[in-house]
Amino acid sequence: MTALFTADDLTHATGGVMTKPFHATGISIDSRTVSPGDLFIALATDTGDGHAHVAEALQKGAAGAMVHREDAVPDEAALLVVRNTQAALTELGAFARTRFEGAVVAVTGSVGKTTTKEMLRTALSACGPTHAAAASYNNHWGVPLTLARMPPDAAYAVVEIGMNHPGEIAPLANLAAPDVAIITSIAGAHLGHMGSLEAIADEKASILPAILQGGAAVLPADSPQLERLRHAVPHGVAIVTFGDSDLRGVRHDADGSDIHAIVCGADIKANFCGTEIRFRLNAPGRHMVMNALATLNAAHCLGADISLCARALETFSPVAGRGARRPILGGTATLLDESYNASGASMRAALAVLRLLPATRRVAVLGDMLELGDHSAREHADLADAVSDSADLLYACGPWMKYLFNAVAAEKIGLHAPDSTALAPAVCAAVRAGDAVLVKGSLGSRMRVVVDALEKASG
Ligand SMILES: Nc1ncnc2c1ncn2[C@@H]1O[C@H](COP(=O)(O)OP(=O)(O)O)[C@@H](O)[C@H]1O
Ligand SMILES: [Mg+2]
Repeated sequence: MTALFTADDLTHATGGVMTKPFHATGISIDSRTVSPGDLFIALATDTGDGHAHVAEALQKGAAGAMVHREDAVPDEAALLVVRNTQAALTELGAFARTRFEGAVVAVTGSVGKTTTKEMLRTALSACGPTHAAAASYNNHWGVPLTLARMPPDAAYAVVEIGMNHPGEIAPLANLAAPDVAIITSIAGAHLGHMGSLEAIADEKASILPAILQGGAAVLPADSPQLERLRHAVPHGVAIVTFGDSDLRGVRHDADGSDIHAIVCGADIKANFCGTEIRFRLNAPGRHMVMNALATLNAAHCLGADISLCARALETFSPVAGRGARRPILGGTATLLDESYNASGASMRAALAVLRLLPATRRVAVLGDMLELGDHSAREHADLADAVSDSADLLYACGPWMKYLFNAVAAEKIGLHAPDSTALAPAVCAAVRAGDAVLVKGSLGSRMRVVVDALEKASG
């Protein structure tokens, strides 16, 4: 395999010193998933210190390890010794970005980043070799890792950029130096840390000055924050918007009578610079349509063939935990797995999908939305209308979901439990043939427990 980084690249990029020369065919920060030939980077984080796993990584075939301490590593090991491994990872990412001659698309937004990243991977792959992070790698280590892993000869790279706190996006955006940046949406995720929607918009907008001259910003036309975002786009960068007005028609083809919910999707007719594109998305819901429009607009800005991209999007399926649908109860009921995360906007989006799914009864199984700070009680109670519109029955868990539980009509009440482990058996007992079951909550609410229980109960 050709080297991703030669020995010279590694020392040049990081200013580090090698105990013996080695090159790397890949990059790993996790000794459990190291591949032969990788550079293993010993990151020190709140959750653990990679230096303790250097020996294991080398034993699994890592070409060498990047460290900033040598006390915990085997004698004679191939090491790249740097001052700080996090900083050196960032330098490797910058090195990889500088030599990259393909186009980079960066994706940020309150919701829909990972889904849009995956749509871009699917769409752009039809036009040329495309690199994208394996998972939702959008933070101070995820972004440089994604860039460092970027094959120099790829045509396209897709980088997800996220935030929990103000100031996090700008340095990551500068590192990615995107040709095109997408802001998927501005909504109240992480309201607790950010205070207001305007503050959230300003933080997302901090991706925009990093767009390269001649590039483009792809912005959500229907966001009340659009003008705020526009103002942050530098001169020399085009502004492209996506939204409902681009659509010439969307037909969701589940009509409530067909239990084969797994084929439920959307037929989309959209307008791009005067050309009509028609394609089918195997993912129902307005939010999925919007993510697809953002994807096609970004591809268009890069000069990619959007007919090819649209055809490729027909093979897209929602990402695990983010709208993936699976049959349960021997195929007589449908699970809508949204267990990966939740905010007010994504709860509404998922409940709207629940309503579209063909079923004789719709069950919402919801866990707490976290990180909403002082807004928590209201954000939960405010979901009552969306639940009433979409669900026949509500099962809920967690202290904040109590506010929603208390706000919905009595005939919709299933059960409220302290946590997902306590809720799971009740949900399994309640679900029956003909149901569509939405399971959603923040990752910390561990709604995956309910998903696993439903799948186990289904055999
Ligand atoms: N454009 C969108 N608008 C609203 N909700 C969305 C959108 N795209 C995805 N979602 C919802 O948000 C959840 C998280 O999606 P994901 O793509 O992982 O976003 P992120 O990476 O920004 O956290 C999904 O489960 C889905 O319910
Ligand atoms: Mg994500």
